[in-house]
Amino acid sequence: MKVLGISGSPRRGGNTDLLLAEVMTGAASKGAEVKTIAVCALDIAPCEHCDVCLKTGECKIQDDMQMVYREMEEADRIVLASPVHFMGVTAQMKAMIDRCQSRWARKYVLKRPPLGSQTGKKAGLFVSVGGREKGNLFEPALATVKSLFASLDIRFAGALLFSSVDEKGAIAKRPEALKQAFIAGQKLVEGIS
Ligand SMILES: Cc1cc2nc3c(=O)[nH]c(=O)nc-3n(C[C@H](O)[C@H](O)[C@H](O)COP(=O)(O)O)c2cc1C
Repeated sequence: MKVLGISGSPRRGGNTDLLLAEVMTGAASKGAEVKTIAVCALDIAPCEHCDVCLKTGECKIQDDMQMVYREMEEADRIVLASPVHFMGVTAQMKAMIDRCQSRWARKYVLKRPPLGSQTGKKAGLFVSVGGREKGNLFEPALATVKSLFASLDIRFAGALLFSSVDEKGAIAKRPEALKQAFIAGQKLVEGIS
């Protein structure tokens, strides 16, 4: 089983990255082959809404997103991890999500499987942190991620959401959160989340 982790935080080694690393370690402990990519380290342009993909099912922009498409097709499990930025996922993560419009086009316009032959067998987890103490701080980001997963026929396997996490590395002082992340990674592989 291949597990792909995608971090959307521009703060490398921050709270999102620490949590994602625990999820991936948990997945690896159950025998999964794991790979983590950080979208802030990649060259991913925003969608131009050129509509080329409506005819071809491919995105015409030749940048690092082409590699991300391949990784998503190969992965059995996908972990999207992003801090909350103004209630949503980060701009870097949103650019990546919007570029999945070409896969949306495959499914809804071209009536093709959006993620290749393994479409429909994949599951996805969302991991997020936010500085605010309470309120509905995760709802918009969660809605975005659920929309992506539904469009790509990725079963939503759940979300790990931690509020009141602001300073870089603050999540390291919450061992229960890191443990939850590790266990979530295990469950993702075992298929019980
Ligand atoms: C541009 C920006 C916008 C933010 N917006 C929110 C927000 O709307 N709600 C919130 O709870 N935290 C917000 N935060 C705080 C981050 O979510 C918080 O610091 C988080 O721990 C960062 O995670 P990271 O270390 O993985 O990048 C924002 C931070 C930045 C830089």
